[in-house]
Amino acid sequence: MPDHAAKPHPFERLSDRLSPLVEQALRRFAWPESSAPRRLVEAMNYSLFAGGKRLRPLLVLAACESVGGQLESALPVAAALEMVHTYSLIHDDLPAMDDDDLRRGRPTCHKAFDEATAILAGDAMNTFALQAILDNVPDPARAVAAARELAVAAGLEGMVGGQMADLESEGAAPDLARLRYIHEHKTGALITAAVVCGGIIGGAGSATLGRLRNYGRRIGLAFQVVDDILDETSTAEQLGKSPGKDRDAGKMTYPRVMGLDAARTHAAELVTAALAELTGLARPDGLRAIAEYFVSRTH
Ligand code: IPE
Ligand code: IPE
Ligand code: MG
Ligand code: MG
Ligand code: MG
Repeated sequence: MPDHAAKPHPFERLSDRLSPLVEQALRRFAWPESSAPRRLVEAMNYSLFAGGKRLRPLLVLAACESVGGQLESALPVAAALEMVHTYSLIHDDLPAMDDDDLRRGRPTCHKAFDEATAILAGDAMNTFALQAILDNVPDPARAVAAARELAVAAGLEGMVGGQMADLESEGAAPDLARLRYIHEHKTGALITAAVVCGGIIGGAGSATLGRLRNYGRRIGLAFQVVDDILDETSTAEQLGKSPGKDRDAGKMTYPRVMGLDAARTHAAELVTAALAELTGLARPDGLRAIAEYFVSRTH
């Protein structure tokens, strides 16, 4: 057997070690059985437990480890990041936004349930994420700092602002500065928050948090550049979502603005720049493996 077949990629090793913790954390810190209408809770469970690569929780845990922190205290934050991300996907797929039928290999939330339920499932998940952090992170000062980081990244100056710009730019003339704003906000902000929150929970000081933020910004943008590339080059079977949607909707994307090859090169350069930010961290290996995976992924 060739050597490379016997030796898993560093990302696979990291994922084998941390993914079981992420799945346990989601079960442990997600909403309990409640008095809320069953249909709402079923829609929330349907979307959160549909699979997904769980990259934001992995980033929280890897960032916490990278600064020498304890994983246990980062688990509620890891779960919270996946909740906010999943809410963003539910709303992103709605007919009024990207109008998608397939997500994580299954019908989208509004297809499996209905639009109103999907909107409310997203809303409830968004606020539950902050509740999960504030109720479960043992150190109150770190809980508040992480909750604030996530709230800012998810909102007006982050994901939601980016989503608005993405919709407003449908059909607009290519504009690289505008495109960069869209991607850094709609996708980069939450990815950056995952890394910074991991650092906060791990007890990092402000200089280290600054480096983690720089790393997060670079891999966050690279992640969405690759998402754009995969939309043009991959299949529904591989992606678990419908490809070709960006072109159909007239979205502003990196392949459209700079071409596929230049987009690939740009993503690789961003990851190289991200890796340079990791020097000096106690245990950078996990963050390094995730950054490399971000540009080598096929789904
Ligand atoms: C998809 O994110 C949406 C973007 C921000 C590009 P992921 O590719 O991380 O989706 P899941 O969580 O694995 O389904
Ligand atoms: C996703 O951008 C951004 C958010 C969900 C916040 P896309 O619209 O490109 O994501 P996909 O391709 O539908 O997953
Ligand atoms: Mg979208
Ligand atoms: Mg979309
Ligand atoms: Mg996309």
